[in-house]
Amino acid sequence: MRDERNLVVYFSQMGNTKKFAELIHEQVGGDIKQIETVRNYPEIYDDLANAAKAEKDNNERPEYKDLNLNLDDYDNIFIGYPMWWYTLPMVMYKFFEDYDFSGKTIIPFNTHEGSYDGGTWDTIKSWERDANVLDGLAIRGGDIGVDPDGGTPSDQTETVKSWLNEIGF
Ligand SMILES: Cc1cc2nc3c(=O)[nH]c(=O)nc-3n(C[C@H](O)[C@H](O)[C@H](O)COP(=O)(O)O)c2cc1C
Repeated sequence: MRDERNLVVYFSQMGNTKKFAELIHEQVGGDIKQIETVRNYPEIYDDLANAAKAEKDNNERPEYKDLNLNLDDYDNIFIGYPMWWYTLPMVMYKFFEDYDFSGKTIIPFNTHEGSYDGGTWDTIKSWERDANVLDGLAIRGGDIGVDPDGGTPSDQTETVKSWLNEIGF
């Protein structure tokens, strides 16, 4: 699958998932794109938590800036996000609704602080029945970057490499 056309696309509010996305991109090549919401989220963690909770409770679909993305250009799409309130951030719901992934291979990846993938890979599988959704990789945010509880990050390159190897990249 190394020679196929790869895209890494991700949402990251605090930078952890961004680091993860960049590690994948370094290994698999192709294109990388960041999903950026039109709205600005609060920087203070508790305020961000509340804003995200409200979006989830109201089942919102926050807008994101144009990705200039045509999925015809890709075979394998790595899709990354942080866990937010035990699910994907609502902007990711919108992203999955906006694009047609039929016939594509989707590889989810996410960061978290204890929920692992929280069932989100199964959620993606249930949304994208016409795609081949592979098992993803979940990394604790504090292991790769910023930890709200003050843990120490470490180099996750080997973890990412061996996972990619297992799934054929
Ligand atoms: C609004 C919000 C909700 C979160 N909800 C969860 C959660 O339900 N489960 C979990 O394990 N971590 C949760 N976290 C922790 C984040 O998933 C974790 O810090 C992640 O690495 C942040 O990614 P980012 O730096 O790419 O934004 C939450 C963080 C925020 C800001």
